[in-house]
Amino acid sequence: MAQFKPVRKAVFPVAGLGTRFLPATKAMPKEMLPINDRPLIQHVYEEARDAGIEEFIFVTGRQKEMLEEHFDYQPELMQTLEARGKEDMVKKVRDCEMPAGKLFLTRQPCPLGLGHAIWCAKKLIGDEPFAILLPDDLVLNKQGCLSQMIDVYNKNGGNVVAVKNVPKEDTSKYGIVDTDNEGDKTVSIKGLVEKPDPANAPSTLSIVGRYILQPEVLDHLAAFETGAGNEIQLTDSMAKLIGYQPFHGLRFDGDHFDCGSRLGFIEANIAYGLADKDIGNNVKTILKNYS
Ligand code: UTP
Repeated sequence: MAQFKPVRKAVFPVAGLGTRFLPATKAMPKEMLPINDRPLIQHVYEEARDAGIEEFIFVTGRQKEMLEEHFDYQPELMQTLEARGKEDMVKKVRDCEMPAGKLFLTRQPCPLGLGHAIWCAKKLIGDEPFAILLPDDLVLNKQGCLSQMIDVYNKNGGNVVAVKNVPKEDTSKYGIVDTDNEGDKTVSIKGLVEKPDPANAPSTLSIVGRYILQPEVLDHLAAFETGAGNEIQLTDSMAKLIGYQPFHGLRFDGDHFDCGSRLGFIEANIAYGLADKDIGNNVKTILKNYS
């Protein structure tokens, strides 16, 4: 099997304004909203860590300090929990302690779009393939979505994005891929369009917020070209890699939740609550009471 450069770094863009969740996100970062017992950012951190990622790069902005605090050590809290014999809680808190030298921070001065956020991490990414995880997008599955994508990357190299089918009338909300093998688990991508009208959409396969990209995408982002919604779109720069590097989409295993929308957020809380061994049965009972 060909040896490709390993994916060691992951970028977490967290500088957006989270307007769809106002007023909850007026002072609190959207990425700190909890699904079951942990914030969105911790879900994606754990997914990346379990996929073998070694360096975690946050692209932050104003009022986002809470995100780095969440991954810091809390000696007083730990001492108190240990003194009270709360071993299960100690373990839970340990799960979000970032080991020394693993967290890297950069700022996006203004939320000009996802592509711009990634460009802001250019120096920290350097000259190697990297992953991007959007904390809005959660995938509930035993093997995490990024880990599944790394398996595809290890076979093909190049670039890999997570994809799933959406209703035809919704293509204008997502980045959509153009492919000749739409039905396969791993699709070969020959084009990408951000938020196309249903009439012009090349397929109904949309990109979900997980990417493995080659560093050359950063050269294209440096042009700061604006696209759909007048934002600097990542999709437009990714599209420029097609034809020069392998580009695949993976229909991942697992249930996907768009936690950036209020309905997706509620659905995710139900699904993660049901999957929780401690409270799952109680959640089921509560749901019965409401149906
Ligand atoms: P979204 O577009 O879903 O987040 O971006 P948003 O803009 O904060 O939310 P709404 O639409 O206003 O409700 C997905 C991820 O990319 C980050 C966001 O923080 C979020 O985690 N992002 C987006 C940036 O870091 N910078 C940007 O310029 C845009």
